[in-house]
Amino acid sequence: MLIKVLGSGAGGGFPQWNCNCANCSGLRAGTLAARPRTQSSLAVSDTGEDWLLVNASPDLRAQLESCPALQPARTVRDTAIAAVLIVDAQIDHSTGLMTLREHTRRLPVYCTPSVHSDLTGGYPLISVLEHYCGVDWRPVDAIGRVPFEIPEISGLTMHPIPLPSEAPPYSPRRHNPAEDDTIGIVFIDQSSGRRCLYAPGLGEWTEPLIEEAERADCLMIDGTLWNDTELMEQGAASKTGREMGHLAQSGSNGMLDQLARLRGRKILIHINNTNPILDESSPEHARLVTLGIEVAYDGMEIEL
Ligand code: MLT
Ligand code: MN
Ligand code: ZN
Repeated sequence: MLIKVLGSGAGGGFPQWNCNCANCSGLRAGTLAARPRTQSSLAVSDTGEDWLLVNASPDLRAQLESCPALQPARTVRDTAIAAVLIVDAQIDHSTGLMTLREHTRRLPVYCTPSVHSDLTGGYPLISVLEHYCGVDWRPVDAIGRVPFEIPEISGLTMHPIPLPSEAPPYSPRRHNPAEDDTIGIVFIDQSSGRRCLYAPGLGEWTEPLIEEAERADCLMIDGTLWNDTELMEQGAASKTGREMGHLAQSGSNGMLDQLARLRGRKILIHINNTNPILDESSPEHARLVTLGIEVAYDGMEIEL
């Protein structure tokens, strides 16, 4: 299994267009030991020929340009994206669907019924795409935890798992989410049996999640915030991580404590621009190094 990190940042990316927090201004000034990051997306493949786009970010066009494997140029209009999988209906994970409107066939989109209802309701990207390439919706049953395969990428099996988080701000279920508003995915390589758990929006650990995490060879886990209140403390916004459905890394029972007991390779992903771990000379980054936890970056490649 091959995994390419197209975008390792959270909503807004890094630097965020209107943000002058210490990280964003330090990156712009060239005084911070950090790399820029685009918004949250992966590409996953079995053989490297056909790819599953996992989340379609607002930065998708630039992400595709930076990844030649996704543009094999076999015909005048071509792509190696066989299908799209969307794990929640947040703006940072879905807006790139609009970038794919010139697709020459109906675009296969895997998502849960709750995500589909937001993307045909409060943020009707899928409805709008009907006037362009059209969408072939392939429902994901995360509540039933029904595994699925994608015909074009037949060496992989996907196991969906519901995650406690929040629905998007525009959703009628914002603070009362359905079980399948946010999901994680275990990607399993059928030949090697190796497993990668991807969960970029995770508010709380559940027993089924812990079981999957213990079996995973690689974890790509919500790295949005270091501290639950960092957006407020930095004067950047008035929301806590908890209100947004993201479990912070620090604190007792925070993400670092949860990861400590796991054997697999641990990678934080979906990192908000205020997070001190982005500064590679920070004590928080040093702590991750000590714990053997990696920070995803754009262009990171994982082979499992
Ligand atoms: C989130 O995961 O909470 C989002 O990144 C928010 C957003 O896209 O604005
Ligand atoms: Mn997000
Ligand atoms: Zn910032």
